Amino acid sequence: MTRICVTDAIPEPSIARLRASGHEVIVHDGPQPPDRAELLTLVEGADAVLTVLSDRVDAEFLEAAGPRLKVVANIAAGHDNIDLAACAARGVVATNTPGVLFDATADLAFGLLLAVTRRLGEGERLIRAGRPWRYRTTFLLGHSIEGKTIGLIGAGQIGTAMARRCRAFRMSIAYAAEHPMREPARTELDAVGMPLDELVASCDVISLHCPLTEGTRHILDAGRIATMRPGAYVINTARGACIDEHALAQALASGRLAGAALDVYENEPEIDPALLGLENVVLAPHLGSANVETRTAMCDLAAENALAVLAGRPAPNALRP
Ligand code: DGY
Repeated sequence: MTRICVTDAIPEPSIARLRASGHEVIVHDGPQPPDRAELLTLVEGADAVLTVLSDRVDAEFLEAAGPRLKVVANIAAGHDNIDLAACAARGVVATNTPGVLFDATADLAFGLLLAVTRRLGEGERLIRAGRPWRYRTTFLLGHSIEGKTIGLIGAGQIGTAMARRCRAFRMSIAYAAEHPMREPARTELDAVGMPLDELVASCDVISLHCPLTEGTRHILDAGRIATMRPGAYVINTARGACIDEHALAQALASGRLAGAALDVYENEPEIDPALLGLENVVLAPHLGSANVETRTAMCDLAAENALAVLAGRPAPNALRP
């Protein structure tokens, strides 16, 4: 019998779908995600594995799974946790789940933008700490986003969805990306493409929507952060390692940047202690795609990818090394 391993609890209908095809399905059901040793034991002898972004899929993982493994279906759009070359070398197909989570992720990015510019985190902390407050004319004033320019690093589906939300709030849209934003969105949103350094130095808000690759690791590094406009904001719902987190913390602590709202971290789930004490930072625990509808769609798509490969069909979302 073919065996499908799922490294994290997923919605029951997705499991039923995997089982309906006659495969044995083993789901990790501990209260915590499996640690490395548990993960390597779990995948032993699997024909297919559904993984999440915290599972490192490398030569060791593939070796532990063994020669039956045909497909690793990541339940995420990002796939920086997968060594695609190692998969290809063993003839293992790797897949992801694009196209189903861009609205959810853009919703969160836009929510974070409002939260940080309107100082929502500070207000919440103040109330929960029981500190006295009264309505005052100059109390906890944030900044309007209307008329400001958002600079998107990456203009794929998520960046474009973020641009739509920002445009609806009368922001101007600029972006730096490998490929121009697709039409008709680019024209509809009046989105202006520009070189990365110019974008970083000229926009009021920088929001990251690029995958993590060797080319985008620390794309917002200390040097670029130093060129940002005084009073600018940073939003990150992409991957933590796209930003030099420590350099960002320093720029926020000095007051040169007005604020940052982060959903992802360089050493997730660890967070640089320098960020934790800052009032002008909103921190979320990687919730970009975390709504029931989106996670269900992601799990269904990952299941579809795995089942396709097991049935000898091309996977809808096969990744190339
Ligand atoms: C992804 O799909 O890459 C997201 O980070 C998951 O929320």
